[in-house]
Amino acid sequence: MWSIIVLIFFSTISYLVTDELIPKMKNLFINAGLYGIDLCKISKDKIPEAIGVVSGCVFLVTIFLFIPIVFGNGLMDRGNFPHNEFAELLAALLSICCMLLLGFADDVLNLKWRYKLLLPTIASLPLLVVYYVNFNSTTFIVPIPLRQFFGVSINIGILYYIYMGMLAVFCTNAINILAGINGLEVGQSAVIALSIIIFDIIELRGDQFKAHSFSLHIMIPYLATTLALLKHNWYPSKVFVGDTFCYVSGMTFAVVAILSHFSKTVLLFFLPQIINFLYSVPQLFHIIPCPRHRLPKYSSETNLLYPSKTVIIKKELTALNKFVLEVLTRFRLVDKQEDDDCIIINNMTLINLFLIKLGPMPEVQLTTSLLLFQILCTCLAFLIRYPMASYFYDV
Ligand code: UD1
Ligand code: MG
Repeated sequence: MWSIIVLIFFSTISYLVTDELIPKMKNLFINAGLYGIDLCKISKDKIPEAIGVVSGCVFLVTIFLFIPIVFGNGLMDRGNFPHNEFAELLAALLSICCMLLLGFADDVLNLKWRYKLLLPTIASLPLLVVYYVNFNSTTFIVPIPLRQFFGVSINIGILYYIYMGMLAVFCTNAINILAGINGLEVGQSAVIALSIIIFDIIELRGDQFKAHSFSLHIMIPYLATTLALLKHNWYPSKVFVGDTFCYVSGMTFAVVAILSHFSKTVLLFFLPQIINFLYSVPQLFHIIPCPRHRLPKYSSETNLLYPSKTVIIKKELTALNKFVLEVLTRFRLVDKQEDDDCIIINNMTLINLFLIKLGPMPEVQLTTSLLLFQILCTCLAFLIRYPMASYFYDV
């Protein structure tokens, strides 16, 4: 417990360091050509991009510095050094470090989508190896209503490792595609981190306290550096976080989900990202055309954001296109206009869906609405995880 208190002190310092470093590093990034233009503003100023690398480095350094403190007793008495726990932490740091490097490479080189899927899979391998050596538990507890068909538990073997690898790919990319308006990438990550911390604190008294203490040791410095980044990325953004931040965040959440064994709960905290991913599937798999940017369209006359659109040429329509469009229209999930040659629909992101259902709104209001939805989903997740869990599991 004392180590958590020291960690909070360390994390407060890391917040202050990140907050101080970001404005100082801005010009360095612009001079290196790492900048973007805010597409939802009139001003065409250069805004430094990939600043997530600053918060990511401070986050990792905080944990590095903390290693001698948390493993202090083991270092004094080397015969009893907890090698398993140390390997777990090192594997976690290696995977996050890999994603920092790959995210930064993506910001500099603009990698293709296939690499965005392949790289997190490779970066998660150290984690899976440690999981195999330390736990190798590949058993799923079956929910009570399904037990008459499958029994109490199912051992899914190698499939469990595939599931964990896919979790890393999902977490890293899901944050990156729910993006494009000031403060949203960092805001959603801060809410998820805070949700995990609350969950850890609740569970700290249970029999899984070691796993939750491990998770806290990662999430507290992560949240501190993320909040410092949010201060500079909030509307009107003075810095962009880049894919570096999205990848580091996703991998950090995947690391705690896998090594602390609560991947289902973490997925509950990812509900808005899951909805956004499922809604995006037709565009991600190019069933419906997907432009380079799907972020909302800014109107300088009204200073409001409107849903952005994509065009489908009628002559190029296939049976699959028609079917997907029919389903989306039936469920009122798209805003569709039609003329003789083409069909125009909104880009399928949760951000645009909010604009369709709630009407055009200023950028800051849209970010706030999406973050409120994220908080609402956290409340729902806790409701499912606690009062409702007894309907599905023996708790
Ligand atoms: C993902 C999304 C893309 C979205 C983009 C916005 C998918 C498949 N890809 O692409 O639709 O447009 O994120 O980040 O869903 N930007 C702003 N305001 C912001 C944040 C970003 O205008 O608050 C713009 C800037 O021009 C910035 C650029 O977005 O330079 C960054 O985009 P990038 O992260 O490279 O896009 P992707 O992650 O590839
Ligand atoms: Mg991005």
